[in-house]
Amino acid sequence: MKVTVSRKAHFNAAHRLYRPDWSFEKNDAIFGKCNNPNFHGHNYDLTVSVTGEIDPETGYVVDVKILKDFIKSEIEDAFDHKNLNVDVPEFKNLNPTAENIVVVIFDKLKAVLESNLELSVTLYETPRNFVTYSGD
Ligand code: NI
Repeated sequence: MKVTVSRKAHFNAAHRLYRPDWSFEKNDAIFGKCNNPNFHGHNYDLTVSVTGEIDPETGYVVDVKILKDFIKSEIEDAFDHKNLNVDVPEFKNLNPTAENIVVVIFDKLKAVLESNLELSVTLYETPRNFVTYSGD
């Protein structure tokens, strides 16, 4: 019997979508306004879902307090009020699209969670645009 426990989180961050090996014109054609050289911000929302067996002793799949602390230390402290391109090492050579951000978030949380827990992360870049990664 597997149960999924989810926790929502939030961070604000700036980014610019571009490839340094492409011309400005090509970046502009592919990334549009997201290629603004002066960056732009998003209010990112996050849902982190952890699936596993209920521990018969505690009745928990995962202690939500521990999950909350991991999200704070690994994601919010690293990304909130940061320029993703400039301040976050994972995006030094990786375009900070929602797709790439959700994979980075997944990998950082997967590294600290107990290995028997399944993880899925959904990242909202806007209320209407969101991406999900479950490690496949
Ligand atoms: Ni953007």
